[in-house]
This record gives sequence, C-alpha cells and structure tokens, in this order.
Amino acid sequence: MRSHLALAGLGLALLASAKNWSIIEINDGQWSDVLERDVCVIGGGASGVHAAVSLVDANKTVVVVERNNRLGGHTHTYTDPETGALVDIGVVVYQPKPVVTDFFGKFGVPLLNMSSVPWNVPGQPANKSQPAAMYNTIRRDTDFRDGSEVVREQQPDVVEALARFRQVVSQYDYVLHGYDLPDPVPEDLYTPFGAFVDKYNLTAAFSTIYQVGQGMGDMLHVPTIYVIKYFNAGDEQALYEGYLTHVHGNNSEIYYKAGEYIKPSNVLLESSVISVNRKNTTSGRAEILVSSRDTGLKLLQCSQVVLAIPPHLSNLRGWDLTPEEHAVFSEYITSNGYWTGLVKNVGMNQTVSHYNAAATSPYNIPVLPALYALAPVGTIEDAWWIKFSANNPTLTDAQVQSYVARQINTLQKSVGVPVTEPEWLIFQSHNPFHLQVAPEAIKDGFYKKLNALQGGLGGKMFYTGAAFHTHYSTLLWRFNKEVLLPKILGGSARR
Ligand SMILES: Cc1cc2nc3c(=O)[nH]c(=O)nc-3n(C[C@H](O)[C@H](O)[C@H](O)COP(=O)(O)OP(=O)(O)OC[C@H]3O[C@@H](n4cnc5c(N)ncnc54)[C@H](O)[C@@H]3O)c2cc1C
Ligand SMILES: *[C@@H]1O[C@H](CO)[C@@H](O)[C@H](O)[C@H]1NC(C)=O
Ligand SMILES: *[C@@H]1O[C@H](CO)[C@@H](O)[C@H](O)[C@H]1NC(C)=O
Ligand SMILES: *[C@@H]1O[C@H](CO)[C@@H](O)[C@H](O)[C@H]1NC(C)=O
Ligand SMILES: *[C@@H]1O[C@H](CO)[C@@H](O)[C@H](O)[C@H]1NC(C)=O
Ligand SMILES: *[C@@H]1O[C@H](CO)[C@@H](O)[C@H](O)[C@H]1NC(C)=O
Ligand SMILES: *[C@@H]1O[C@H](CO)[C@@H](O)[C@H](O)[C@H]1NC(C)=O
Ligand SMILES: *[C@@H]1O[C@H](CO)[C@@H](O)[C@H](O)[C@H]1NC(C)=O
Ligand SMILES: *[C@@H]1O[C@H](CO)[C@@H](O)[C@H](O)[C@H]1NC(C)=O
Repeated sequence: MRSHLALAGLGLALLASAKNWSIIEINDGQWSDVLERDVCVIGGGASGVHAAVSLVDANKTVVVVERNNRLGGHTHTYTDPETGALVDIGVVVYQPKPVVTDFFGKFGVPLLNMSSVPWNVPGQPANKSQPAAMYNTIRRDTDFRDGSEVVREQQPDVVEALARFRQVVSQYDYVLHGYDLPDPVPEDLYTPFGAFVDKYNLTAAFSTIYQVGQGMGDMLHVPTIYVIKYFNAGDEQALYEGYLTHVHGNNSEIYYKAGEYIKPSNVLLESSVISVNRKNTTSGRAEILVSSRDTGLKLLQCSQVVLAIPPHLSNLRGWDLTPEEHAVFSEYITSNGYWTGLVKNVGMNQTVSHYNAAATSPYNIPVLPALYALAPVGTIEDAWWIKFSANNPTLTDAQVQSYVARQINTLQKSVGVPVTEPEWLIFQSHNPFHLQVAPEAIKDGFYKKLNALQGGLGGKMFYTGAAFHTHYSTLLWRFNKEVLLPKILGGSARR
C-alpha cells in the first residue's frame, strides 16, 4: 500500500515536471478528485492544526495536508500496551495563558496545574495517577563519555538570577509576539547567548535555562533572540506558579479532538505536496497537487494557503516559490538535531536520574552530540526517557540509536549493573529542529523580509509555525490568534 502510493507520487512528480500545469488541469479526471476549500493548511502540527480550527470557527472551509499518519507534529504520546500508561515523548507543558485554556476548553480536554498537586518526593516511587513528566528523581551528574561523576558548581542565587533575567528581557517583550523587530535590530538580540549571559551577569540562571531549553544545541553560541523566545519571562513565572499539562499525560488528545472537529474528510494524512501552482491558474485560486494515503491523488484548489511546515528549501520541493520566498528561505543555514524516545531493559535504579555533564566545560554543559540525561519515567517499569541533542541534524536515526545504547552501557558499567542491549519502545526524529539564520542576517533585517511574505501573492499566502515565531505551542497559538488570523481574515474581507 505504502510503496504503491510512493510510486504513484513519484509518477505524478515526473509528470508534473515533464509536462506543465495547463496540461495537468485538463487531465483533472486522471486522479480521484478536486477539493475546493477556502484555505489549504500545509502541515498538521501545533500551529497548522490550531490555525485550521480557528479558521473553521471563522466559517472558512479548510483542508489540512500532513505527511505523518497523525496530527500533532512534535506532540507525540506513547501508550504502554500492557498497562495503558501514557508518556509524552514530545510536547509536555504549556504556559497558563488564555489561548491554552481556550483551546483545551473548546474540546473539553482537561488540564492540570502542575504546581497545584504534591509531586512524589525524590527517591520515592512515582504516583501513577500523575503524568509521567511529574516523576521526581534523585539527580546525579555524570559524564556520559566515561561514566565519571561530575561535581557541578553550586549556584546559590538561581531564583534571584532568574528574576533578573526576566527583568532584562522585558525590554524585548515584543519577541514574544513574533518577529516584529525594531530597526535597527538591537545588538543584544543577535549576540551569542553566552555573551548576553555574561553582559547581564545571569550566570546563576544559565543551568536552569539550559535544562528547560532542550533542543537548542550549543546554547552558548545561539543568537540570544532564539533563546529568549524559547525560555522566556512566562517560563520564569511558570516554574514557580505552575505549568499546565494534560491531566493524564495524554497531550496528543487535543489533536485527535481537533481532527474530529476539522472533520476527517478535511484532514489528509500520510499526504505530501507534489506540485504547487499559486500564480497562474485558470481557477484564479492556488492549486496544490497532493498524494494522499486514503484517496490517492488530489488537486486542492484554495483561495488562501497557510504554510505551517518548516520552510526549508529541501521541504518545499514542487513549490512555485517566488523570488522573495526563495531568497528568504535559502537563508536558513543552521538547525539543530533533536531525537526523543523511550527505551526499556536498562536495569538501573529507577529513583535516580543521571544528567549528562562535563567537568571542564562552561556551566558543565554536556559535550554534544549526546543524551541530555538518562531518566526513568517512573510510571512504566524499567522505561527511560531518551532526549538526544546535536548541534546539527546530520546524524542518522540508526547512528543516534547506537550512540544512545553506548552511552547507556557506559552508565551501566559505572553504576555496576549488567550491560544490556536497550530495547526501543518508541523513537522520533524531530529534525530539522529550530531553523536559524546567521547573526549577520538577523542584524541585516532577515526577519523583516520574512514578515513581508505574509499576505503575499495578492493576499493568497500566509505562514505560521516555529520558523515564523518559536518552538513553543503556547506562543504559536497566541501568534495564530494575534497575528496570523487577523491577517488572513482581514485579507479575505478586502477581496
Ligand atoms: C521533544 C520536544 C519537546 C517539546 N516540548 C514542548 C513543550 O513541552 N511545550 C511546548 O510548548 N513546546 C514544546 N516543544 C516545541 C513545540 O512542539 C514546537 O514548537 C511546535 O510543535 C512547533 O509547531 P509547528 O507547527 O511549527 O511544527 P510541528 O508541530 O512540527 O508541525 C509541523 C507538521 O508539519 C508536518 N510536515 C512537515 N513537513 C511536511 C511536508 N513537507 N508536507 C506535509 N507535512 C509536513 C510535520 O509532520 C508536522 O506534523 C517541544 C518540541 C520537541 C521536539
Ligand atoms: C505548456 O502547455 C501549453 C498549453 O498546452 C503549451 O502551449 C506550452 O508549450 C507548454 N509549455 C511547456 C514548457 O511545456
Ligand atoms: C459562522 O456561521 C454561523 C452560522 O451561519 C453564524 O452564526 C456565525 O456568526 C458565523 N461566525 C462567524 C465568525 O462569522
Ligand atoms: C497553579 O497552582 C499554584 C499553586 O496552587 C497557584 O499559585 C497558581 O496560581 C495556579 N496557577 C493557575 C494558572 O491557576
Ligand atoms: C497522587 O496523585 C493524585 C493526583 O494528582 C493525588 O490526588 C494524590 O493525592 C496523589 N497521591 C499521593 C500519595 O500523593
Ligand atoms: C552577579 O550576580 C551574582 C548573583 O547571581 C552576585 O552575587 C554578583 O555580585 C553579581 N556580580 C556583579 C558584578 O554584579
Ligand atoms: C488518549 O487520548 C486519545 C484521544 O482522545 C484516546 O483515544 C486514548 O484512549 C487516550 N489514552 C488513554 C490511555 O486514555
Ligand atoms: C499563464 O500561463 C500561460 C501558459 O503558459 C501563459 O500564456 C500566460 O501568459 C500566463 N499568464 C500569466 C498572467 O502569467
Ligand atoms: C536506589 O537509589 C537510592 C538513592 O541512592 C537508594 O536509596 C536505593 O537503595 C537504591 N535502590 C536500589 C534497589 O539499589
């Protein structure tokens, strides 16, 4: 079934490149049918699904194109087949903002304020009524390269430093609403984050920011704007006042419910874009040719398009990019590598988490590529979180898996338990994670050019997702509400 579709897709791609669009339009009848919608949403992750739901609420007809067999993107929940226990290997927490409680509330999906209930004391067993993410353990700092213990420098003033961090970044509050930056762009924003920390004496806050801001690769050298969007004032607050999470640790549920609301006939799963023509169609609408699991080839005709996938050129094959789009998207020169999953058959003490650290690196940050930590989930016997980070996405999944196994073996030897072959319960690549441009590009107004794409092609094209804001569901949903939706709806009202 899969290979059959892949072949069909390949055939069409060849057809589309060999022939031209007017021919394909004439030959409409060759594939199953044409879907006419107000808005085509490409990408069914956090931003695309939320945008689609909001558009349905505004009485727009939509279709969502998603390459995976499920909605949710980086939100991915593992269910233990024996016990039904749930573990989120992707998105876990939300900031307590109205846009979050509204979205969950709309679908009756229950949220838990993580500060409102007592967590287990570290060293005590997990409370299995609570989400796996709330399992508290005893922390050990270990160098995963050789299993040696690392004594981290103690930072007595973390709370004070985090409060000062919040104060310092408050002058850049606008970064929490998108990329509408002043001209000229303040130097702090494209300074490497390590230098920013030094400048404002935020040393004591760094380890907390590093730990919460996973997936950022070598955070000390990442331009500050990326870090202070990802770990922001709302996090400083939520660390004390409580993050929200799904009450049973089933964060994917919101995407199931949203998919039902959008209606299965408007959600094309295991689907990919083959060719796009937005500029010169007889219908006057954008035409997107899609190969789809359930229905084969479909021609989508939409008045407007929302691009909600990582806009890397390699992910936009078949698109009729404008010179402006091409120029902007080709500036994404870097992204991080980030893989997550769960392993079993480790056999180590499940009240202890080993955090990867290095004795001689600044802030004792681990040497990447590496596991951030080897931590038991607590709610499933001998199951362990895997969160693996690299400064670029070039390792293959197989390389990451064998690297993880070697690091686990090193830890097993260091604590004196038998060396085993860890068994993968689930594994997901999140790459390319966090598309970035060079600091010079930020300085030279890259984000002004990026924003200028919104409403392009005569009010047809719109964009959302992490590259247009940040990797944070809470902030992306607010961006959709504050920035994207008014543009789309305002744009169509003028038409
Ligand atoms: C491990 C991990 C943990 C995280 N934890 C949190 C957290 O606790 N709280 C939080 O707020 N944020 C968290 N984030 C960040 C958050 O998930 C992302 O910011 C958010 O998912 C980005 O939304 P998006 O819509 O841009 O991308 P995605 O959610 O990745 O959505 C993009 C979708 O497009 C699809 N797609 C990609 N390319 C194509 C294509 N060519 N054709 C069709 N479909 C395509 C993908 O399959 C995906 O479903 C976490 C991220 C990771 C990786
Ligand atoms: C595209 O199709 C039109 C109409 O059939 C034809 O005139 C034109 O030559 C074709 N262009 C290419 C590049 O094949
Ligand atoms: C959508 O349509 C319904 C039913 O026609 C109407 O009651 C509602 O006001 C409309 N909503 C918007 C946002 O236009
Ligand atoms: C969460 O609970 C904490 C502790 O009870 C409380 O201080 C905080 O206000 C709560 N947050 C929300 C959003 O209700
Ligand atoms: C376990 O968690 C549930 C849900 O948060 C809570 O009601 C209960 O009191 C907890 N049990 C213990 C022993 O803390
Ligand atoms: C830097 O901050 C620490 C607390 O985090 C404080 O002890 C120290 O005095 C500060 N140094 C300067 C130069 O302000
Ligand atoms: C998690 O949510 C999904 C979607 O609502 C549901 O099908 C599934 O049964 C839930 N899992 C558990 C264990 O409750
Ligand atoms: C659209 O394409 C046709 C066929 O290639 C061409 O003749 C026509 O000039 C194009 N129109 C526009 C507005 O580009
Ligand atoms: C696990 O580690 C804890 C903390 O060091 C210790 O108290 C406990 O005895 C250990 N359990 C086993 C089974 O070794």
